[in-house]
Amino acid sequence: MTGSCDEVMTLIGAGYETTTQALGWTWYLLGRNPSVETKLRKEIESVLGKRAPTFADLSGLEYTRMVFQEAMRLYPPIWAFSRVAIKRDEIGGFYVPPKSEVLLFPFITHRHAEFWDAPEEFSPERFSAENSINRPKFAYFPFGGGARQCIGNHFAQMEAQIIIAMVLQKFCVSLDEKHEVEAETSVTLRPRNGVKVVLEKV
Ligand code: HEM
Repeated sequence: MTGSCDEVMTLIGAGYETTTQALGWTWYLLGRNPSVETKLRKEIESVLGKRAPTFADLSGLEYTRMVFQEAMRLYPPIWAFSRVAIKRDEIGGFYVPPKSEVLLFPFITHRHAEFWDAPEEFSPERFSAENSINRPKFAYFPFGGGARQCIGNHFAQMEAQIIIAMVLQKFCVSLDEKHEVEAETSVTLRPRNGVKVVLEKV
């Protein structure tokens, strides 16, 4: 493969599976939290009505952004990843030898009671500007951090806002209650047998 072909494959590979899982979990959480869905619908209705979103609408779809961010807090698609120590270090009293691999777990940090009130609850309001002010930067890192952080970060959030808004403009999405949803820790954090929903035209 040529270099640019490799790059395209990386973008598709890194960008497709992650966004898919994040959106799957978003529909699951919305299905279990009808009051959030109601609030979300109100925002979409007032910002867009029936028309398709444009780039200029994205800043107005703030609650939509918060819903997606909160879904990735509870179910970060990349639930674990690693870094290699370039020199000796100490973290929380643990000696880290040079060149050792250190594992980071967004899934655990995102549910840590030191950083989050009622961590198991789906509450998008946590991500309003005012509620985010005092949160340590790395209490939330679904896209990693530092020099190697996800380059699709903003693209993924934009894509998700558009997809969530356009699906809800056309459909009521409810969970198939007979289908049990269970998290599976593969390379990504995915619903083992998918999330089954019933779509009804609005
Ligand atoms: C919800 C969607 C996504 C999530 C949760 C996600 C998450 C991540 C994470 C955790 C990393 C590793 C960061 C680190 O080591 O600090 C990463 C890297 C990367 N992501 Fe994403 N990603 C998403 C969407 C995308 C999209 C849409 C693209 C491209 C269009 C993309 C392209 C990449 C690439 C190329 C890297 C490697 C960057 C590097 O090593 O320099 N990702 N992503």
